[in-house]
Amino acid sequence: MISIILAGGKGTRLWPLSREYFSKQFLDFGFGKSLFQMTVERCLEFSGLNDIFVVTNEKYKFIVLNQLEELGYNFKEENILLEPESKNTLPAIYYAIKDLNNDEIVGVFPSDHIIKGDLKEYIEKAKKIANNYIVIFGVKPNKPHTGYGYIKPGEKLEVGYKVDEFKEKPNIEKAKEYLKKGYLWNSGMFLFKKDVFVEEVKNHCKEVYEAFLLDDIKEAYKTVPDISIDYGVIEKSKKVAVIPLEIKWNDLGSFDALYDEFSKDKNGNVILGDNIILDSKNNLSINKKLIALIDINDLIVVDTRDALLICKKGSSQKVKEVVKKLKEIN
Ligand code: GDD
Ligand code: MG
Repeated sequence: MISIILAGGKGTRLWPLSREYFSKQFLDFGFGKSLFQMTVERCLEFSGLNDIFVVTNEKYKFIVLNQLEELGYNFKEENILLEPESKNTLPAIYYAIKDLNNDEIVGVFPSDHIIKGDLKEYIEKAKKIANNYIVIFGVKPNKPHTGYGYIKPGEKLEVGYKVDEFKEKPNIEKAKEYLKKGYLWNSGMFLFKKDVFVEEVKNHCKEVYEAFLLDDIKEAYKTVPDISIDYGVIEKSKKVAVIPLEIKWNDLGSFDALYDEFSKDKNGNVILGDNIILDSKNNLSINKKLIALIDINDLIVVDTRDALLICKKGSSQKVKEVVKKLKEIN
């Protein structure tokens, strides 16, 4: 099986930890390995080293190479596909699959997640229906998050369910409604047979299909639209099936998600760094230098060498607006 690792996103909601030239997937969050490195190791459970392809932006090339070297694998440089510009996930995936054999089974893996448990079991299940469906993997939602895709499972299949409806990043009212109705979140991983996927791209996002008929990647990227697989194909295709995941999954997309992931002290604080905490509850603090918190509740404090973020818990989705403002200033 071919594994495609998507490692070209920006992750601006984790500023100041993530930066334009060092984005979220390359951070290690105290796990000892970066999210990207953990994704590579996960893929090695179902693909050989030479069957793993990393698609990333040109500007991340050396970070990717360094992090692969740190893992001690002799990864072929030609398996790192460099995009001249970021055009979101559909072009990134299409770039990686376009020259594969038609009957190749392909798994697509984002590199910004924490997964705990046996993913391989679900990949094996998905392969059983890959002749007819693009398979997505569902996660049970716990809040009306507006940053995810929502899946309505329908008719039962040999494994999993046919997807009746897929809605990418709904507004908050819709997200609440979907939560009540028992929809699942899209985990962001995909599995398909190459020709099934190409057919669906041709049917629903012809501009992407046509752009990659050009052999020159730079030229293809000039004309290809900026579009995610979710909006471009999954929302529109009738050939999508979902397999619910019963393992731990977290998209570390924001500081609130990070807080949820880590174990807390008896007062609900998550502390990554040296801190002195007096009478303070439910805070997340990530810092290089010593920080003292006194009578502080529900705050996110992230201190790096050149920038300090202080943000209310629950407001961390707005961090990306800071990055936007920074770009306007510079
Ligand atoms: N190579 C490349 N090029 N990779 C990219 C690009 C790009 O232009 N844009 C994003 N990626 C990578 C990111 O680094 C990440 O690993 C993955 O593709 C997914 O992109 P995100 O930008 O993080 O997507 P999202 O989180 O908003 O939404 C997706 O994931 C959710 C679950 O985490 C969707 O699939 C949602 O439906 C899903 O719920
Ligand atoms: Mg994401």
